[in-house]
Amino acid sequence: MSTAQLIDGKAIAQAIHSETAARVAALKTKGITPGITFVRVGEDPASQAYVRMKGKKALELGIKSDTIVLPEATTEAELLALLEKLNADKSVHGILVQAPLPKHISETKVFSTVLPSKDVDGFHPVNVGKLLLGEEGGFKPCTPAGVHELLIRSKIPVEGAHVVILGRGNIVGKPMAAILVQKAKHANATITVLHSRSRDIAEHCRRADILIAAMGQTEFVKADMVKPGATVIDVGVNRVTDANDPRGYRLVGDIDFKAVCEVAAHVTPNPGGVGPMTIAMLMANTATAAEAAA
Ligand code: GUN
Repeated sequence: MSTAQLIDGKAIAQAIHSETAARVAALKTKGITPGITFVRVGEDPASQAYVRMKGKKALELGIKSDTIVLPEATTEAELLALLEKLNADKSVHGILVQAPLPKHISETKVFSTVLPSKDVDGFHPVNVGKLLLGEEGGFKPCTPAGVHELLIRSKIPVEGAHVVILGRGNIVGKPMAAILVQKAKHANATITVLHSRSRDIAEHCRRADILIAAMGQTEFVKADMVKPGATVIDVGVNRVTDANDPRGYRLVGDIDFKAVCEVAAHVTPNPGGVGPMTIAMLMANTATAAEAAA
């Protein structure tokens, strides 16, 4: 049995970070320091970790980063008022409200309040609409945009390929389909989107030239769901209890990695595949927001 080639998300993300750092340096010669503000509500441990990682990378690249932490009991009105203040602040080019939010706050309202020009997450309806219409100049959600970059920079042909996406969420599945279905270079794919109500899931997966797992189920994709020679992208981040790990848990993806590697031609490791790309696209979007404001 052959073993799949690994798609090195860390290295590809690093290449994008180098490009972003150069863009940030160019902005600074014009007296502009790109700035991103993270807003986190409550004490979700995963959100804490994500925001910490994103803030650290921003500083490394010379992007000014602020994190505002609000208590779990914050009202929707208070959060919206804060966002209006950040919208008006010229030193803030990008605003990221980390999801998930407490149940009493509408994510739709929150994402709609961030100015589209500062919406580096690509969640505002205007940016979602531009993506669907294939219009340039909007922000694309970072994780699916990162997966697209991984495919492009790994020279995996997308045009005409059958891409099967597991998961139809607003953060990954839906925008992923919108990116790859466009009549555009590195897109033009045939897309199947599978979800919790889909029938014959394994059968659909076996037809995929590119299989993107983003449904949040531990090791859901088994070797017999993968066409020999396919590319498999693992977007999943699932916490599994593990007494042997000092954290008490370990992170596991949506694919049965070892077994899938025996069948696929290209596979993303996890961690070290999609995760670093999400951060790379966020930083690149922040540079774009600052360039547009300049
Ligand atoms: N929660 C899970 N993924 C994301 C993301 O890409 N952006 C934000 N803001 N929250 C998330």
